[in-house]
Amino acid sequence: MPSSIRQSTESDREWIVEVLLDNWASSIVVTRGISYEADRLPSIIAEIDGKRVGLLTYKIKNHELEIVTMNALDEDKGVGTALLNEAVAIARKNRCRRLWLITTNDNVDAIRFYQKRGFEIAAVHRYAAEESRKLKPQLPFVGKYGIPIRDEIEMEIDLK
Ligand SMILES: CC(C)(COP(=O)(O)OP(=O)(O)OC[C@H]1O[C@@H](n2cnc3c(N)ncnc32)[C@H](O)[C@@H]1OP(=O)(O)O)[C@@H](O)C(=O)NCCC(=O)NCCS
Repeated sequence: MPSSIRQSTESDREWIVEVLLDNWASSIVVTRGISYEADRLPSIIAEIDGKRVGLLTYKIKNHELEIVTMNALDEDKGVGTALLNEAVAIARKNRCRRLWLITTNDNVDAIRFYQKRGFEIAAVHRYAAEESRKLKPQLPFVGKYGIPIRDEIEMEIDLK
């Protein structure tokens, strides 16, 4: 379990950019055809013994909280679950009706992880990766387990 979960500050910016580059090939992240500079979004950091081990970036718009990126640098230690719980708390505090995110069809581990924590598949946006690549050419063609990256899977928790 992480020993602390906190909002990021300006002094985390360099680390945030590094995490985004390492994990998403760029700090630009595209979801539903919208390009985000994820390092400029509000974000939550998980720490274990003072070491930063997890990052969740998010955007609140129209009473909805979108998780734009989520990374546990040290997996299977509860970091992802703790970040997610904090995102739900932030969404509730901001009276959001919905918490949602996009993952790609290859990310079967994340799809498992989220479904076990209350998310439902709200929509499958077929071939959306083609549009994303126009905004983010670094998006690979082949993803986890050698699965072609093709679709956006929209997952949500209804907070109403
Ligand atoms: C998806 C992701 C964020 C999950 O984070 P995580 O920190 O590994 O998640 P947790 O540790 O909370 O849970 C993962 C598993 O570890 C186990 N676990 C959790 N806490 C544990 C602990 N203290 N001791 C042992 N095992 C533990 C859980 O059983 C869980 O398995 P389950 O999902 O089958 O229930 C992480 O795998 C990741 O960064 N993936 C790459 C990026 C990505 O795909 N992001 C999501 C798309 S935006």
